[in-house]
Amino acid sequence: MDKKKILVIDDDPNICELFKNALESEGYKTSLYPDGKEGLASFEKNGSSLILLDLQMPNMDGFEMLSKIRERDKEIPVIVITGFGTVENAVRALKSGATDFLVKPLIIQDLLFTVKRSLESGMLTKEISKFKMIEAILELNRVLVSLTSLDLLLDRVVSIMDNIFQPEKIAVYIAGAEEEGLFLRKNVSKSSFKKGKSPLSFRHDEVADIFRNRKARVEKTKNHGIKIPLCGKEKAIGFIDVEFPEGREIKEEEIKFLEVFAIQVGIGIENANLFDVVKESYLNSIRSLVNSLEAKDAYTKGHSEQVAYYSCLIGREMELPARDLEILRNASYLHDLGKLGIKDSVLLKPGPLDRDEIELIRQHPSMTIKILEPLGLRKEEIDTCFYHHERINGKGYPAGLKGEEIPFFAKILSVADAYSAMVSERPYRKGLTKKQAVKELEKWAGIQFDRDIVNVFLKILSENETGEVIDNEGN
Ligand SMILES: [Fe+2]
Repeated sequence: MDKKKILVIDDDPNICELFKNALESEGYKTSLYPDGKEGLASFEKNGSSLILLDLQMPNMDGFEMLSKIRERDKEIPVIVITGFGTVENAVRALKSGATDFLVKPLIIQDLLFTVKRSLESGMLTKEISKFKMIEAILELNRVLVSLTSLDLLLDRVVSIMDNIFQPEKIAVYIAGAEEEGLFLRKNVSKSSFKKGKSPLSFRHDEVADIFRNRKARVEKTKNHGIKIPLCGKEKAIGFIDVEFPEGREIKEEEIKFLEVFAIQVGIGIENANLFDVVKESYLNSIRSLVNSLEAKDAYTKGHSEQVAYYSCLIGREMELPARDLEILRNASYLHDLGKLGIKDSVLLKPGPLDRDEIELIRQHPSMTIKILEPLGLRKEEIDTCFYHHERINGKGYPAGLKGEEIPFFAKILSVADAYSAMVSERPYRKGLTKKQAVKELEKWAGIQFDRDIVNVFLKILSENETGEVIDNEGN
């Protein structure tokens, strides 16, 4: 095994000699220097595993050397050893990044123990930072597997990088569809960061170096930064621009990590773009399917669009994230799809239904999920469709779930669905007025509907004069 190399920096040759003998008898290799200037030059040239540092020295004292070491290396253990063991010196040394503080005269066994402990904890810190990087790769893999949008992917990329490197700024640029240049898709900077804003875009010729390389080679930039090219399967598709606090050195192993990370991010971006195209066309087919279903009946025409609109209004009022709104919107479009399997004579019957017919209608949530199951939708979307006729008091169908047992999105959909049904015309009755429908919601809150969700919806309706559909996108 390699011997650990220790720099002893002290202007007292006797002390240097004493430490050298003690350390070498324990198997360490030592180099001795009489002041900070020589010690620092050696450290910069040859590196070291640990530094023993005196405070009072000619040319460059211990504090100055300590701060210069920390500019270059945040992790190397530095043990300050001084004959001036004041509390003030100890606090200053530890604040400047000393790992430990010993006072002369000292017992050699204490020195050896402190050296051993500092080396072990230094190794542990390195292991932890390596572990953090491996964790990051695994986490990104998990994101890639469950990827649902480019924005979600970039959120995770930025948070993983922030967690590991704590940079001042991260800006992600991605190529536009026509390859006319790179556009800023994500930009995060610390409030203290004042080095200028990130440009919104780069022309193709300004970033030609990125497009020339097909390999993700991380480059250091001026202003303590790095540029990480992002490569897809066939071509470069963007880069991440990162800037660090002054004095933060990027190590070789971190660059290697970033190169692996960049490959994954590049694949992730290509997949996300592909996923968006597939998802969009898939949703369009579902919409046209639902429209054709509803078109059979003049009275239910546009019902799903309305339900999507109301449930997203509720979701937005509750400040749900974009992903949850997407689930609500999709489930709203799909919730009654199972009615495709019900005979028109029952579905379009202009009057009250008999028991058998009610039983048949009650089958539609199960039929919906039978249609949806092979499509690989999210579990929340399937559950929302399946449970949208459950009631808070447990008297709904198909499962008779009660209160909190009913999935959250299904409870939102239930309110939106009921309101839309109440205010629309039916063959056997006129649609309720907004005022009458509000009364019904109030009456059944806590019995059929979740009371909190009803309250949110009533607030929206009271703020919106008409309560009618404003746009058909549910946006
Ligand atoms: Fe339904």
